[in-house]
Amino acid sequence: MAEFSPGLEGVVAAQTEISEVDGQNGRLIYRGGHLIQDVADKTYEEIAYLLWHGQLPGRQQLAELHDGMAAGRKLKPQTLAALRALPADCDPMDALRTGLSAQGAAPDCPKPTLDQAISYTAVTPTIVAATYRLQRGEEPIEPRDALGHAANFLHMLDGKEPDHDRTHYLQTYLVMLADHGLNASTFSARVTASTGTDLCSALVAAIGALKGPAHGGAATAAMNMLDEIGSPKNAEQWLTDAIDHHQRFMGFGHRVYRTYDPRAKILRELARSANPKFYELASVTEEHALRILKQRHPERPNATNVDYYSAGILQAAGFPKNFFTCVFAASRISGWTAHVLEYMEKDGRIIRPASQWLGPQPRELKRAEAG
Ligand SMILES: CC(C)(COP(=O)(O)OP(=O)(O)OC[C@H]1O[C@@H](n2cnc3c(N)ncnc32)[C@H](O)[C@@H]1OP(=O)(O)O)[C@@H](O)C(=O)NCCC(=O)NCCS
Repeated sequence: MAEFSPGLEGVVAAQTEISEVDGQNGRLIYRGGHLIQDVADKTYEEIAYLLWHGQLPGRQQLAELHDGMAAGRKLKPQTLAALRALPADCDPMDALRTGLSAQGAAPDCPKPTLDQAISYTAVTPTIVAATYRLQRGEEPIEPRDALGHAANFLHMLDGKEPDHDRTHYLQTYLVMLADHGLNASTFSARVTASTGTDLCSALVAAIGALKGPAHGGAATAAMNMLDEIGSPKNAEQWLTDAIDHHQRFMGFGHRVYRTYDPRAKILRELARSANPKFYELASVTEEHALRILKQRHPERPNATNVDYYSAGILQAAGFPKNFFTCVFAASRISGWTAHVLEYMEKDGRIIRPASQWLGPQPRELKRAEAG
């Protein structure tokens, strides 16, 4: 039997043509396109199409995708009812998990299709924005068909004409995070879909995995860390105390990257102008964090990851920090759905790895004693 690898590190558990993470050289490739040269200036719809189809859309395909997404944006009555039933202070990721689950509630177990992928991708911002409004005691705002995906997302938060800069920040963020190899949530989606279940169930599993602070929850955690540090002059001492207490620096380290995350490079540059106050604190803190991490772990390069500067971009786009992971989900959903469709088409075999038995040999079972 193959050797156990904690955290499945180094185990090849999928074959994919959707995205490639080159951790040694700090490169991310979507369907053969280089993140920085070929992807960064596209719209989210173009990138979703690329992930689903393997090529960028022409004008007609883009118009059809826009219509398909506009038609999929509306919440079903059961979804709105489910969101209204939740406590106003629940974690927005719990609301998204519940809302998407309600949206997909059906009498049967439909096979995953591209049309469903488009609908779930389209409706996720509506669920997030409705949660944002309901938690403030306000009514959800209807989506506007004429707007693009990112602009409509912002419109549903406050009903205002979407601001060009904020739309650009959100669009860039959504494009950067849309897919990333076999990360934990994508793997969860593939494992769940491999049982032959429906797409919604696979997406709900992925949302659950994304919520954790070691994965999608890291941007909120990074913002909490910076809020605690408060000022550049406190950064070095705060970080030294934290590492002495075995705390992790949020937004640093990665299973695959051994160098600067290319997405973080782009978001760092954007944050410089989009959110100067954040940038001032974040860049000084980053300098100290990288130096301390190098001192403490000379054997393992732990660099800045995407979630660190994501926090400043999402704040500049207008999202409160407890909504950051939901916006991550609204991006990654195109990747999740692309992976599920790819898996069903190319493989489809149930994912069922082995475990190594560490317990005793068969023996007579005893009951626990009282006290
Ligand atoms: C992303 C992450 C989960 C990767 O985990 P991993 O590949 O299992 O790496 P490990 O947990 O084995 O870390 C290896 C070593 O580097 C250290 N390390 C890794 N990331 C660190 C961080 N952010 N801060 C401080 N130390 C860190 C670990 O303490 C560990 O050292 P140890 O063996 O002496 O305890 C991890 O780097 C982390 O927790 N980062 C912070 C959360 C975050 O930003 N997540 C978003 C990822 S995109």
